[in-house]
Amino acid sequence: MPPIPKDAPIVVLTGAGISKESGLDTFRDKDGIWSKVRLEDVATPEGFKRDPARVHAFYNARRRSLAEDGISPNPAHDALARLEREWHGPVLVVTQNIDDLHERAGSTRLIHMHGELLKVRCRRCNRPMEWTGDLDTGHACPDCGRPGLLRPHVVWFGEMPLDMGLIFQALDDCALFVSIGTSGHVYPAAGFVAQVRRRGKAHTIELNLEPSEGASLFHEIRQGPASELVPAFVDELMHSQDA
Ligand code: APR
Repeated sequence: MPPIPKDAPIVVLTGAGISKESGLDTFRDKDGIWSKVRLEDVATPEGFKRDPARVHAFYNARRRSLAEDGISPNPAHDALARLEREWHGPVLVVTQNIDDLHERAGSTRLIHMHGELLKVRCRRCNRPMEWTGDLDTGHACPDCGRPGLLRPHVVWFGEMPLDMGLIFQALDDCALFVSIGTSGHVYPAAGFVAQVRRRGKAHTIELNLEPSEGASLFHEIRQGPASELVPAFVDELMHSQDA
């Protein structure tokens, strides 16, 4: 990795692979989430319209698992929180994940571009609100009082990811772009490395268990489990900063 200026802006993209060693399933690995349930049925507006109870059951099970199955941040999440605390420049984590493991590890400069499992929103009031229990069609919106309008605050296929303007600006400004634990299959996240490369200002690196679909676009690829690669990578960066 070339020397990175000590106050350089860093953008880190994360996917389901960073939470795998915390005990959460990925989507497209063998026995991943989409091998057990059809995404068309539980992660599209059409699926929700067709059978809202089925969609609620899918997210309720994932929300319960996050709360009850002893799921906690792993050393990869912890290392990114350390990087934000100790790096002299701004560090932004853009995650495709809807779990809260980055927050629980201490990351604060964080964008959940696909929404958050522990939030719901009313389709009329559109205000996201914390929600840790089960959600069903009988729940009324705490703001407008209407039943049956609450939905998971999660971006479904065909919907617009969140905060894209902020993300694109950060990608244009960064001097280092790191992609961790994502297959590079789903846009717009899969296109971020190409956008960074077009600007020609940043070093790009992929830390992944196996090469992603966009691996050839990165300056550097490191293969292995995130809980090993990410702490080592952050150590390397911090030593370069202190050199
Ligand atoms: N360490 C690092 N990488 C890992 C690990 C691990 N322990 N385990 C798996 N991976 C890698 C896999 O090799 C794969 O490249 O994580 C990636 C997971 O890919 P996906 O399952 O496709 O997950 P992701 O890229 O986050 O999916 C993007 O698709 O279904 C939608 O909205 C959903 O946000 C999700 C989006």
